[in-house]
Amino acid sequence: MAYPPWDVPYIGGGLVIAIVATLHVIIAHFAVGAGLLVACLDSGLAGHAGTEASRADVNDFLRRFGRVIILVSFVAGVLSGVGIWFSVSLASPRATSILIHHFLWGWAAEWVLFVVEVASGYIYYYGFDTLPASRRRVVAWIYAGTAWGSLFVVNGILSFMLSPGRWIETHDFWDGFFNPTFWPSLALRTVLSLGLAGAVALIIVRGSWKARGFGEAARRRISSYASIFVATLVLIIPFSIFYLGACPEAAQHLALGDAMRLTRTYLVVAGLASAAGVYALWAMRYGDGGRFAYDLAPALAMLVIALAATASLELVREGIRKPYLVYDYLYSSGWMTAEADPKEARALETHGVLALDPWLAPHGSGEGSGVALDFSRLSSAQRGHAVYRAQCAACHNLGGVNDLAPIVRGWSRVRASDMLAHLHERKFFMPPFAGNSEEQAALADYVWELGTQSLAAGEAGSLQRE
Ligand code: HEC
Repeated sequence: MAYPPWDVPYIGGGLVIAIVATLHVIIAHFAVGAGLLVACLDSGLAGHAGTEASRADVNDFLRRFGRVIILVSFVAGVLSGVGIWFSVSLASPRATSILIHHFLWGWAAEWVLFVVEVASGYIYYYGFDTLPASRRRVVAWIYAGTAWGSLFVVNGILSFMLSPGRWIETHDFWDGFFNPTFWPSLALRTVLSLGLAGAVALIIVRGSWKARGFGEAARRRISSYASIFVATLVLIIPFSIFYLGACPEAAQHLALGDAMRLTRTYLVVAGLASAAGVYALWAMRYGDGGRFAYDLAPALAMLVIALAATASLELVREGIRKPYLVYDYLYSSGWMTAEADPKEARALETHGVLALDPWLAPHGSGEGSGVALDFSRLSSAQRGHAVYRAQCAACHNLGGVNDLAPIVRGWSRVRASDMLAHLHERKFFMPPFAGNSEEQAALADYVWELGTQSLAAGEAGSLQRE
């Protein structure tokens, strides 16, 4: 099964997904934490013996926070959510198909939860002054519950991609859903959600306090709830260890080996997030009314740290999943592993990738995509380019991110051919070559040509500089 390749100049489709998905994850996580914060804060008012003025201030905050939720979560969240589906179905159509087919009821459940979440969010915001307070609180909890519920469901499917666990053998929905990283991933994401929402709440209440005249009592009350939310970030390191421990062994090795740079960045950010959590705990206990604890700057710093932690978790998850889209099942290049689909693997080996993929017209070959191509009329290096598009372009972008040309600059034909034969063994994060021996030779020709051209261009460039 093959799909048309999606050529995104310079950055490639994978990075487009990463950007859109990271944006969406941040928004979605904020929505979850914000729902819980609103529900807790509003319910807390029920038994609260504060003055009328302070209750009015808290209500004012809830209304304002509700508006942030609607704008950020519902408008930007929905747009970026649809953006993910567009970009993944273009860049990784096969993975999209697998996720839809194997988790159809998961997506359906998620969709229902999401509809209820959005409806209750709107009812809460627009009914704020007209609904009786007790009923409004029920709506808030429905919103919070469904928002977290949709995180629960999507987390099952996303964590499946990294650690399908027993699903590989059973193909059972629940084995895939409650996979090895399900709980640690849910725990991490919940904590990040709380941290993000808490930090935004602190910014609203601290940043706009003077301008809007929030009273001291309300300010303290809201800050203490928000601080508890941020304080949960202290759990991020133990949860991350728990998470890494549940990952497939090869992914753990990657995290601590070739992808160490990524891991180190994550650890620094997670360390900062823990520090933000400790600070929030300290501010709750000792900072009450203190000048420092109530400044806008620490609140902004907390938000930046929570954002960075959420984004880097996504990068690590994507990074250590290589060379797979679905671990042990589907490679990043869009071909199934030999264990998952032995028939396809045999066909690739005997007939070759070009015979299985009708979409591989090389650039400049004069052929239109989508028609059955007569690859035999092309030169070996041109055929190699087509093979490259089928197998390497998911991660290597000509002239752009992870460009192959400078990597293979000046390589000999023998070296190129030898590298292709051991792609997977040498660098575990690349899938093994999939195709017949004639195609492997063609790709070696192409890689060699790429390296030679790159060398020539480099020499011309240095001549010019001289
Ligand atoms: C899953 C993503 C992925 C795929 C698919 C992929 N690569 Fe890579 N490849 C990488 C990454 C990441 C690097 C590391 C780049 C670096 O070190 O800067 C890399 C490095 C390389 C290197 C340098 C290896 C070395 O010894 O330093 C070569 C050569 C290479 N790739 C060739 C290919 C070819 C040819 C294909 C297609 C058959 C391919 N790659 C497919 C991700 C991929």
